[in-house]
Amino acid sequence: MAPPILYVDLARQFAEERDALMPRIEAVLASGLWVGGAAVEALEAELRDYLGVAGVVALNSGTDALILSMRALGIGPGDEVVTAPNSFIASAGAVAMLGATPVFADVGVDMNIDPDHLARALTPRTKAVIAVHLAGRMAAMDPIMALAERHGLTVIEDAAQAMGSRYKGRLAGTIGHVGCFSAHPLKNFNAMGDAGFIATDNVKVAARVRRLQAHGLIDRNTAVEWGTVSRLDSVQAEILRFRLPRVAAIIERRRANADHYRRALADCPGVALPVCQPYEYNSFHLFVVQCERRDALQRALAEQGIATGIHYPTPIHCQPAAKALGYGVGSMPEAERQAARSLSLPIHQFLAAADIERVAAAIRGFHEAG
Ligand SMILES: Cc1ncc(COP(=O)(O)O)c(C=O)c1O
Repeated sequence: MAPPILYVDLARQFAEERDALMPRIEAVLASGLWVGGAAVEALEAELRDYLGVAGVVALNSGTDALILSMRALGIGPGDEVVTAPNSFIASAGAVAMLGATPVFADVGVDMNIDPDHLARALTPRTKAVIAVHLAGRMAAMDPIMALAERHGLTVIEDAAQAMGSRYKGRLAGTIGHVGCFSAHPLKNFNAMGDAGFIATDNVKVAARVRRLQAHGLIDRNTAVEWGTVSRLDSVQAEILRFRLPRVAAIIERRRANADHYRRALADCPGVALPVCQPYEYNSFHLFVVQCERRDALQRALAEQGIATGIHYPTPIHCQPAAKALGYGVGSMPEAERQAARSLSLPIHQFLAAADIERVAAAIRGFHEAG
């Protein structure tokens, strides 16, 4: 059998970086500054430059980026935050963790929150909107920002899957009031453990997130509010510093792979390819196709050694944790339709052209066999 086609290849990523990266990791270890310090400060400065924002705070995860930025914005019990039901659980879980109420608005065919549904989901209690850029595709930021402005709402961009994506030339995470990023190992811009950060032009919000991430301390011995601990360790910071200048090339490779899939799967019966809007530059964190017989196709591909993913099989509003919110099956028809049909094909930067041809041929073969 042909060698397996992996969904991601993090071991290869490290193998290719090893000689250049290890001395930098060793230097951090030798410095004895394992938490905070120069590496974290340098990363934050480099991310400020990359994103063109006034404030970046490095954190332990994308989930903490959501929780702490919303807390810094004053979101809490009694508030509603509208978000997409088809995201990773963290987009709504972060709202619930603050004691606020996640409210869902259905998505459009672009898999992102539909501004018309969003407008209908607003109530007098709505305080904020989380615009998720799922799979690297940009949510419709102009209508979302306009709506938010009309209603005095805060917009939090969940850019966990969209580092490097652009909307009308503007980077994901820099359009709303706060951008929340994950640098989990599976992301395009990835650490070797949990990592995340927030980006904002609102320096007051950045300063409050920085305080909340360190127990509300303003100096070693004075806590002015309750906080938590959410530190990015120095080794992860150095790994991210090493990778930041390389992320553009990774995204370009993924985009080239997406183009290749488009050509190879053009007119393939039973498969709908992701639609890219003319205004977006998609970083292709995921390449999601929609197909009627998704589970059978996934099994057939697995039998041929081709790994795929499903993002996500159960929409958030149908999760047991969301039961008390009172949604249930049928309430978000487009998100539910997509959850049953979505299949994420391998798109990582190490795929060869022959790998993509093989995946496409296997998909065509599946549909031709009926
Ligand atoms: C859309 C989205 N939001 C939030 C998160 C949470 O990020 P993390 O896993 O770094 O906490 C993720 C990560 O998978 C994500 O995909």
